Amino acid sequence: MSNILVVTSSALGGASVSTRLVEDAVAALRRQDPAARIVTRDLGAQPVPHLDLDSATAIRGGEPQNPAQAAAQALSDELIAELEAADTIVIGAPMYNFGIASTLKAWFDHVLRAGVTFRYTERGPVGLLAGKRVVVIETRGGLYSEGPAAPMDSQEPHLRTLLGFIGMTDVTFIRAEKLAFGPEAREQAIDAARARIGEAFAYREAA
Ligand SMILES: Cc1cc2nc3c(=O)[nH]c(=O)nc-3n(C[C@H](O)[C@H](O)[C@H](O)COP(=O)(O)O)c2cc1C
Repeated sequence: MSNILVVTSSALGGASVSTRLVEDAVAALRRQDPAARIVTRDLGAQPVPHLDLDSATAIRGGEPQNPAQAAAQALSDELIAELEAADTIVIGAPMYNFGIASTLKAWFDHVLRAGVTFRYTERGPVGLLAGKRVVVIETRGGLYSEGPAAPMDSQEPHLRTLLGFIGMTDVTFIRAEKLAFGPEAREQAIDAARARIGEAFAYREAA
């Protein structure tokens, strides 16, 4: 039985393209393994708080000094436990103002923890969550995978860095781009992303 963690981060609720595509990916994973255990974190609907003095202090380690620090450490522990338990992680990542949603950034702020998900060694940092498969579904109004706006993409490189830092290097990025280039381009982009999801989660039909 596989363990799947699904993290979505759109602010747009039912109108979200990334969440819809993540649902397609989850359906494909369920077909592959009907007994899969799926844990979902909808950061758009239930955001993880942004860091403040207490939570940043707590996440850096040490004994909590007050109830706010204890709560922040408990939340970080819970989010990390979800990651540790997962063998496959599906992330829905809309591009907002050239980067990831601030809710997704706040989630990363709680799971990148020195001594827990990475550690520093004499040779530099080492990620501690290796051996997991990650699929990231990115949505964008514009085109960044090629062309003049490519250098403005602060979404995919940032995600690759964040995931790689904690040892997650088996990452497949599936992009739906040009969503704001008119209805035809939008439909094509969503169809192409769906096809890529099908390829990424190809499963054998029962004989
Ligand atoms: C607040 C906000 C900021 C956005 N910023 C960008 C951007 O910088 N570049 C871009 O190509 N699209 C941008 N978009 C368009 C989104 O990437 C697009 O609507 C995409 O569908 C968002 O994913 P979602 O539908 O899952 O929320 C922005 C959308 C919103 C709501």
